[in-house]
Amino acid sequence: MSEDSFRIVGPARLHGSVEVRGAKNSALKLMAVSLLAPGKNTLLNVPHIADVEIMSELLVRLGCTVEHDTTAHSLTIYVPETPGHKADYDLVRKMRASINVLGPLIARVGEAEVALPGGDAIGSRGLDFHIEGLRALGADVRSEHGYIIATAPNGLKGAQIDLEFPSVGATENLMTAACLAKGQTIITNAAREPDIADIGQYLISMGAKIVGLGSSTLIIDGVDRLNPATHATLPDRIVTGTWAFAAVMTQGDITIVGGRPEDLEVPLDKLVAAGAIITTTPDGFRVKMDRRPDAIDVATLPYPGFPTDLQPMAICLNAIAQGHALVTENVFEGRFMFVNELKRLGATITVDGHHAAINGLPVLSGAPVQATDIRAGAALVLAGLISEGITIVEDGYHVDRGYPDFAEDLRGLGADVTRV
Ligand code: UD1
Repeated sequence: MSEDSFRIVGPARLHGSVEVRGAKNSALKLMAVSLLAPGKNTLLNVPHIADVEIMSELLVRLGCTVEHDTTAHSLTIYVPETPGHKADYDLVRKMRASINVLGPLIARVGEAEVALPGGDAIGSRGLDFHIEGLRALGADVRSEHGYIIATAPNGLKGAQIDLEFPSVGATENLMTAACLAKGQTIITNAAREPDIADIGQYLISMGAKIVGLGSSTLIIDGVDRLNPATHATLPDRIVTGTWAFAAVMTQGDITIVGGRPEDLEVPLDKLVAAGAIITTTPDGFRVKMDRRPDAIDVATLPYPGFPTDLQPMAICLNAIAQGHALVTENVFEGRFMFVNELKRLGATITVDGHHAAINGLPVLSGAPVQATDIRAGAALVLAGLISEGITIVEDGYHVDRGYPDFAEDLRGLGADVTRV
């Protein structure tokens, strides 16, 4: 057992209230986008997670000064007139969101050198939409020695960009770069995740001209300069969804303070179909379940579809539901890796390509398992709550990347969960 594990004694029934903080996937991008505005930028409701520290270090290497007040959950970023332009491999490999400095740097400095995140090659799946989009905006983009090197010495020019797939990261990088391009950019088939609207709002408060946030067509009129701003990070919809699934799985009753049901319509409808009672409260919403859930079929899709980041939670729920379910992963092919770990707890699941067929059992049986990524790790901790006996989830650092204080929050809801 590593020193970095979750130890869960199950089964448990979660009840009480839990607070949701700013979204990891917004906060990291808001930090990167700050590079666009020289001066003092302030971000509020920033979660206290390791990735924020990694992004801070990246910004510091680019010449920024970053002050993180973890008690106030605020981050102050002082951006220089001329930031650096290189994002080194040692940081990018730790966190794929580092790629989000690409758009701001090319727009602001006219050049960017960003290490390729592991496993990706230029032109292949993974970054091709970012690269094609930047080329459409007039940048010269090539790959050399493991880096994407983008240059636009005379600045970027507005363009029509039709995304082949509504990629979250590509939409963010291209929307950001277009804010300082000359003329108008129209991005069609843009991703519509609430995180993108959050970043767009921050850019607008800096002086950017963006129309269409929340829709699949973004129209951006470039401006010459952006000014620093203050922005509060959107509450984390994936953490919110994780708590909603936890309530249903454990036949519990959780009030999710700060949770925004409007960002989770499809997953919450699924939970209602499973038998949950969901009601809004003045500062969030409450999820109550008083029986074993019914099985629910789920197919992941870009927003507003069922989020791929909640797919592991859907599989766990189905593992103890009444009936059979089919879960289809349409966004990330490799996302069923954790299923073998869940099977160690006794779950009956058959994977065929991007489909997982699950036959629900009344309860699972605790065992040591390994977290493979953030969301799978969190799902395995929840699986420990619906298993009899002790479950150890190793490599808990994955979970910490997305869920600050997960064990503490679970204890607050009555579970026997410790870090060992
Ligand atoms: C973001 C989230 C991640 C979430 C995902 C989908 C962050 C840090 N991560 O990831 O948690 O699961 O959105 O909601 O915000 N693709 C290409 N070419 C590209 C870009 C993407 O083929 O240029 C493919 C990817 O391989 C993947 C799919 O498109 O199969 C979706 O990727 P994308 O929406 O870009 O996800 P990320 O921004 O990486």
